[in-house]
Amino acid sequence: MTAIRLQINGADVADDVPPRLSLADFLRERRNLTGTHLGCEHGVCGACTVLVDGAPARSCLMLAVACDERRIQTIEAFADDPVMQALRRNFHQHHALQCGYCTPAMLITARDLILRRRAGSEREIRDGLAGNICRCTGYTNIVTAIAAAAKELGTEAANA
Ligand code: FES
Ligand code: FES
Repeated sequence: MTAIRLQINGADVADDVPPRLSLADFLRERRNLTGTHLGCEHGVCGACTVLVDGAPARSCLMLAVACDERRIQTIEAFADDPVMQALRRNFHQHHALQCGYCTPAMLITARDLILRRRAGSEREIRDGLAGNICRCTGYTNIVTAIAAAAKELGTEAANA
């Protein structure tokens, strides 16, 4: 076991973890943060995306021990986040989910694209979502929802 200290969704956390425990399993099984989903568990589907020190990362590929002194944000962190609120509203309005399995990670990736002003065109959004697989929607409504949220937030003009 290795002792780690990290910040998760704004709270300081200390724990002892086995060396091969992934960040995804640590979040889901030790912290009960089950909004982080697991699909492929080898870095392909993007369902496990969280923010590590503010940047999207695949939590199935990271070991919990590697997160010592890091700052982790999961989908549960964004209830009051204005960008996430706009995204949630537009995902709802534009029917951008079916089963919802990919949705938490899609929202985290989409928020990152909007904040980096990389959601200015359909091509840019589709490129930005290349690492997030959705087996249900065909992506069109997801792209529409993200474009609408970016427009609402006034971030799409930077790349127009
Ligand atoms: S579960 Fe991590 S990329 Fe698929
Ligand atoms: S909504 Fe089902 S996988 Fe995306």
